[in-house]
Amino acid sequence: MRRSISVDLGERSYPIVVGEGAWEEMAGYLASRPPGKAALVTDERVGSLYGGRVRKILDDAGIDHLLITVPRGEKSKSFRYLELLCREMAVADMARDGLVIALGGGVVGDLAGMAASTFLRGVRFVQLPTTLLAMVDSSVGGKTGINIPEGKNLVGTFYQPEGVYAQTAVLGTLEERDWYSGLAEAVKIALSMDAEFFSFLESTADFGPEGDLDISRVVLTACENKANVVRQDERESGLRRVLNFGHTLGHAIEAALGYGTLRHGEAVIMGMKGALRLSMDRCGLPKERYRQAMAVLDRIPVPSVGLGGEDFGTFLRRDKKAAGGKVQAVLIRDIGYHEFTDLENPAVLMDAYERSIAGT
Ligand SMILES: NC(=O)c1ccc[n+]([C@@H]2O[C@H](COP(=O)([O-])OP(=O)(O)OC[C@H]3O[C@@H](n4cnc5c(N)ncnc54)[C@H](O)[C@@H]3O)[C@@H](O)[C@H]2O)c1
Repeated sequence: MRRSISVDLGERSYPIVVGEGAWEEMAGYLASRPPGKAALVTDERVGSLYGGRVRKILDDAGIDHLLITVPRGEKSKSFRYLELLCREMAVADMARDGLVIALGGGVVGDLAGMAASTFLRGVRFVQLPTTLLAMVDSSVGGKTGINIPEGKNLVGTFYQPEGVYAQTAVLGTLEERDWYSGLAEAVKIALSMDAEFFSFLESTADFGPEGDLDISRVVLTACENKANVVRQDERESGLRRVLNFGHTLGHAIEAALGYGTLRHGEAVIMGMKGALRLSMDRCGLPKERYRQAMAVLDRIPVPSVGLGGEDFGTFLRRDKKAAGGKVQAVLIRDIGYHEFTDLENPAVLMDAYERSIAGT
């Protein structure tokens, strides 16, 4: 079954379509508002699995397109690949009525979105997310970005797509680590703003890739929550920061270990553990609720990595949410209820993470 919700942003409102036939629905939409030249952007793995199918859908809809394939992984979110995309689109004579279609996970979505927002000062853009992370989080809300060695997502734009079309059946070919990485972002949404969603995840006996999770419900509930936040605060001047729960420390860990060592969601799991422990100290998160939240996070496997020696402090201070030397952290006072707190010394997050692991 296919369902749809809307991200309400006035003239720039757009649908999120979830379920079987979502890609065909995109073709129907494009046929009703034909673009000029389109660029289908994907990575090597997604391209080999699903590129042919999407190209056929575009051909059948009469959409003239070129295919641009980037390597898998975080390294493609770089100036080098942004330049490659822009140059290929220029060589193909894409004009202002051009369209960028992102087919892939958060990496492809962030990179392709950045290209769509900057090439010719902005061409049309749609998202076909293929990872759970991209479906529950990154394809919705219009954040685009690339990394530089100094930090993750430090260069980027806000640029909403015209539509998000999530064909959930493609999640069947995800690697297990990518499944759990996406689930981490769903748990983030549950912990920081939706207690009922948390109870649903908690009560699912096996939320692994072979388990009994109702994945359409997960994607739709996460997207409804995110759409609601984005509607109120599109450019992250306040409420939208709630989506960074677990990310301040998570991003610092990712950058300090080197991009690609951990999946994004794995680093976010570690970041959420630190944030939960600090929430007990600073926001009165009851111990029982802390244990309940940790029990769900502990069901998501994270590879063990040594965290000694890296300069997390530098990366923490460089966080985009830092202002006036202070790092703004998202904590929770109860499951589903967030609070924003300024941290004079961001190293307390790493200390809290270590205490959460040690059980002290
Ligand atoms: N823009 C935002 O609001 C936002 C929010 C959260 C995260 N992000 C970004 O998202 C990125 C992480 O996204 P991700 O976890 O999707 O990573 P990813 O895009 O690297 O995808 C993970 C892996 O899964 C493979 N893959 C994708 N779809 C597949 C499928 N259906 N079957 C088999 N393999 C498939 C890819 O080839 C890749 O190797 C990070 O860069 C993060 O910063 C952005």
